[in-house]
Amino acid sequence: MAAGSNRLDRLLARTLQYPIKRVRLDIAQGKVRLDDDCCRDPSRLVHRFSLITYQGRVIQAQSPVYIMLHKPVGVVCATRDEQHQTVLDLIDHPQKHELHIVGRLDLNSSGLVLLTNDGRWSSALTDPQHKVPKVYEVRVENPLTPDYVSDFANGMYFAYEDITTASAELTLTSTYTARVVLTEGKYHQIKRMFGRFRNPVLALHRVAIGDHVLPAQLAAGEWSVLSLTS
Ligand code: URA
Repeated sequence: MAAGSNRLDRLLARTLQYPIKRVRLDIAQGKVRLDDDCCRDPSRLVHRFSLITYQGRVIQAQSPVYIMLHKPVGVVCATRDEQHQTVLDLIDHPQKHELHIVGRLDLNSSGLVLLTNDGRWSSALTDPQHKVPKVYEVRVENPLTPDYVSDFANGMYFAYEDITTASAELTLTSTYTARVVLTEGKYHQIKRMFGRFRNPVLALHRVAIGDHVLPAQLAAGEWSVLSLTS
């Protein structure tokens, strides 16, 4: 594959978090436009500045925008919601309706959320093969013990999805607090991992995604534009 390019179907599957088969069908049915033309070829290579839309929604734009947000507890990681304030409600940017979320946080979690209209960037950050580390600070209800560390490192089997989690790094920072580093993002993963010990998570805060670290001066609810050099 040419350097700097991505297959259309893979990029869409990762960005939309849809199964690849569904994405291929949608492409074949003409739901995807590439640089303003309908594209029915799932294997088409797309570049960073190819304009991609899926049913009218911008997946990747020609002028990319990268945003870092400090999500407060109680704000939903969605672009629309009937009940709760959304991460987009907190952002005032002319291209905000083009943005998608790069790795969601639960309603009652806080911390770093990245948003972009650059599907190539978001799929590189979320592709499990790239093993991009995501760092979380966790506070739990019951005292932590060293056996948590080995169980997180060994991976845990989740019968519902029939998967074993990748090795996760857990560092105990006090009796009730820990730092967790994940390289994947399964549904409610951290809560379910502590759930194995019947230890409810009371607070969960994401401090970093790869090289992007939540700055101390960015208060809950605040956002800033990232300028990326590459
Ligand atoms: N794991 C969870 O359980 N919740 C999050 O929001 C993130 C990781």
